[in-house]
Amino acid sequence: MAVLTVNNLCKTFGAGTARANRVLDHISFDVRGQVFVSIVGPSGCGKSTLLNIISGVEDHTSGEISVTSDSGAPARMGYVFQDPRLLPWRTVQKNMLYVQDSTDDATTKRVERYLDMVGLAEHSDYFPVQLSGGMQQRVGIARAFAVEPDLLIMDEPFSHLDAITARGLRAELQEIWAQSRKTVVFVTHDVVEAVELSDRIIVLQPGGRIYEDITIDLPRPRRQSDAAVAMLQADVLARLEQMRATAMTGSPSE
Ligand SMILES: Nc1ncnc2c1ncn2[C@@H]1O[C@H](COP(=O)(O)OP(=O)(O)O)[C@@H](O)[C@H]1O
Ligand SMILES: [Mg+2]
Repeated sequence: MAVLTVNNLCKTFGAGTARANRVLDHISFDVRGQVFVSIVGPSGCGKSTLLNIISGVEDHTSGEISVTSDSGAPARMGYVFQDPRLLPWRTVQKNMLYVQDSTDDATTKRVERYLDMVGLAEHSDYFPVQLSGGMQQRVGIARAFAVEPDLLIMDEPFSHLDAITARGLRAELQEIWAQSRKTVVFVTHDVVEAVELSDRIIVLQPGGRIYEDITIDLPRPRRQSDAAVAMLQADVLARLEQMRATAMTGSPSE
């Protein structure tokens, strides 16, 4: 599990130049414990930039950010991206092992266990090209969980998949998460997906400010066919439409 603290975080690309672009504007939030948190917002509002700063790939311009394990040590992180980013010349199992520190028996067993959780135990000797897009993304998810990270970061992992495959994978993700209970920060532009998966939704608005921080208190497993899930999805969607309308008319949102 991880403790993530973000305090007054700002990010400006090209700071000090004529093309300065402020993407994150005084963002503050904390995430700790066995929670699944989604960052939701329209395309271009800075979601990936925020994840890149959390993972240390990108610097921030001002403010503070800290990511530790709950014991205070540096957090171990796992990543799932839009594209599974598998090495084409390695088998599924070798792709899984590639990001591990060791290839001892315990590690190999762990890798097998996570492959089994995503229904790919029989495919460990396959090469990525022999798998469908959905199966490749399953490998990406299993690979991230198998690192046993303190913090799991996911950036729109289902956005390149067809709707039916994405729905199946969301259900699987819920099951794996229920078993492992990692701290997850999940980025999506899809409110419906966020409500199905999350304990909490942080809504980013264009311009990179937090618009709302919403607690989703629904029992799990959640299905899109559940009336309570559908009602909350409609409610959060309406709030985001309100945000968009406010942004377009230029009226203040505070
Ligand atoms: N490396 C970069 N250099 C300059 N501008 C960037 C860079 N990465 C992202 N941006 C800009 O930051 C803004 C937010 O991008 P991004 O974080 O990818 O948004 P999102 O993930 O919400 O769609 C966009 O205007 C984008 O053009
Ligand atoms: Mg993005």
